[in-house]
Amino acid sequence: MSEGEGCPYRAVAIIPAAGQGKRMGAERPKQFLELKGKSILAVTLEAFERAKGICGIVVVVPAQEVAFCEEQIVKRFGLSKVVAVVPGGKRRQDSVRIGLEAAGSDYGLVAVHDGVRPFVNPEFIDKLLSEAAIKGAVVAAVPATDTVKGVDQAGHITKTYDRQKLWLAQTPQVFPYEVLLKAHQRALREGWDEATDDAFLVEQMGVNVTLIEGSPLNIKVTTPSDLILARAIMENW
Ligand code: C5P
Repeated sequence: MSEGEGCPYRAVAIIPAAGQGKRMGAERPKQFLELKGKSILAVTLEAFERAKGICGIVVVVPAQEVAFCEEQIVKRFGLSKVVAVVPGGKRRQDSVRIGLEAAGSDYGLVAVHDGVRPFVNPEFIDKLLSEAAIKGAVVAAVPATDTVKGVDQAGHITKTYDRQKLWLAQTPQVFPYEVLLKAHQRALREGWDEATDDAFLVEQMGVNVTLIEGSPLNIKVTTPSDLILARAIMENW
């Protein structure tokens, strides 16, 4: 880990990118599809390379993509902050835990960010780190703009939620390293299975997590229609 002036928070980024991308229906996982000749994962990693407060990056990819990632992404784009490229696990939470363990415990803060969210600003990453240094655990989020309904199995609406109180959680999500590691270890021990983000595991530990308003452009590229949007955003990125 590089120390000193550029590393005030001793912050490491964990980038889970080990999904198989089945919802995209493409031959390769979506994180390796290209936007203007550059893979989505490479665009994501460049933002973390440029964020001043990030001092190390751990990339978690499917086992069969480790060599490709090292050669065609890390080396090719000169990503000097990448300290490890490791094979992921079955669920997203397994991949994040593997990444945390690979990073090692010398870090103070950890920023977890989906490999398939390429439109994250380096300045916003730095803002989240400085907020986390004060508040402890912070999560990028946007206010809900659509009205959210609960439905039963038949598709009938059972509840309409108060939109004023609803936010959509994104990544980056930043935590003290020890807090997130403990949350993941407890989730594994106790078989918590339903986590779709890291904040959920930290919330279960009784830790306060604060939302920080992010950008609606910070989309997760999951489906073919997301890819159309991503290509449009990339034109002006
Ligand atoms: O599953 P979801 O679409 O929410 O995935 C968010 C991120 O988690 C993606 O970047 C995906 O590659 C990653 N992931 C992973 N390991 C898994 C499943 C998903 O790293 N087993």
